[in-house]
Parts: sequence; C-alpha cells; structure tokens
Amino acid sequence: MRKIYLAGNWKMNKTFQEADDFLYELGEYLEEKTLRNVEAIICPPFPYLELVTDMAEELPLSCGAQNVSEYKSGAYTGEISAEMLSSMEVEYCITGHSERRNIFGESNSVVNAKIKQLQEHFIIPILCIGEKLEERDAGKTDEVVLSQLQGSLKDIKIDGNLFIAYEPVWAIGTGKTATPQQAQEVHKLIREWLRENYGEDVAADIPILYGGSVKPGNLKELLREADIDGGLIGGASLEIEGYIKMLEIAGNLK
Ligand code: PGA
Repeated sequence: MRKIYLAGNWKMNKTFQEADDFLYELGEYLEEKTLRNVEAIICPPFPYLELVTDMAEELPLSCGAQNVSEYKSGAYTGEISAEMLSSMEVEYCITGHSERRNIFGESNSVVNAKIKQLQEHFIIPILCIGEKLEERDAGKTDEVVLSQLQGSLKDIKIDGNLFIAYEPVWAIGTGKTATPQQAQEVHKLIREWLRENYGEDVAADIPILYGGSVKPGNLKELLREADIDGGLIGGASLEIEGYIKMLEIAGNLK
C-alpha cells in the first residue's frame, strides 16, 4: 500500500502556548494510535521547530521548516541556514511556496539555490508549484507548472529525496479546492515530467502532495486519485481536531 503524507503548514500562526497545546494533543493521539501508511509532518514557524523535533524523537511524527536561506552562512541577518535546520534534526523544508514567490518575490533561481542548500544537508525539500487563476483561465496551467519545475530543479540531481506539492494559487486559503480530477491532471503531468527527466523509479518514488483548501471534507476524494500522495494543508491543519480527523481519513483509506 502506498504511503500518504499529511503536512501541516502552519504559516505565520500560533503563539508558543498554542503551538505547545496543539502538539500535546497530537502527541497523545499518536501515542495511542498506530498510523499505518500515513506520515504526519508538522511545519511550524521557526521558533517552534524544537517543540516538534523533540516530539519526533519519540513519536511517528516528522518536522518540516517553512523556509530556508539560499545562502550557506555568514552575514545575512534574519536568515536561517540549511545547516542550522539539519543540526536540529529537521527532516523537511517547504520551498517555493506561492506566498514566498508572490509576496517576497522569490524566483525559480532563488528556489533552486535553496533546494541545493537543503540537499547538501540531507533535508528533503517540499517544492511547491502552481498556477494563478488568470494563468489557468488562459489555458497556461501546464506551461507554468512545467517552467516552475524546470527552473526550480535546474542542474539538480534527484534520487528520490524530493517532495513536490502542487498548489494552485487560486485554491490557497480561498476555500476553493481544485476538483480531484483537476488536481490529478496536473499531478499526472508532474509525474510524467519526473519520469522523462529522472527515470521511472525516481518518478514513482517522489511523493506529489496537493495543497489548496484541503480539509476533512474533501481529503478522501483527493487521496483516491492515482497520483495524489497526500496534502500540504494550511488553514485546516491549525485546529487539532481537524488535523487528527484528516490523519484518521488517510489511515482508513482502502
Ligand atoms: P490552505 O493552504 O490549506 O490554507 O489553502 C495551503 C498552503 O498554502 O500550503
């Protein structure tokens, strides 16, 4: 049975106490329940990473960062390096999220540099790609997604240590989810691109997550699609009840 990944992207939310309370409840759930074929990944803001990595030592939980510097080390005030993340046992890192691309002006080449830094420190990048509404309406979805893949992964060797998240920008935080069919079409395109560029085995190994208004009510239908291996979940991962519900749904999937 294939593995399903549910990555909670908390973005810039929660106080320390709120993060601690959420993780306490998640810990109780994970202690009690054996999750087969489902991996829970929590991507908190930087100051709370250690809360998650500490728990990950004892429980079936993984920790992801939401961002990383494109630079190695040195005089870059406010930046966090891949080496720092790796020294804290962080396993994953989101890169190329549309909020980073659109609000902070991150280009494919910056995303590319970040992925290279992460690879040097054996942190698995979760590379986000996705089209804006006007691009979809203009029939440019495939073109945009492929050019983000090409640009972000330029000159990068992939041997399976990569996740991709397809996140149509028009579906993020809007309550509008892509239909399972719309998502599957793009996931299939991504899988084909991976096959052409890295070969059959690597393409089959790379999890492709869907992101954009995933919630307990639509997760099951999305996960039924052949090329959807999990979710990158923003808003619906902030409430512990909803996140646990999604772990249950994924765990019960036949
Ligand atoms: P959302 O965010 O689930 O709130 O739409 C997803 C994301 O941006 O990763």
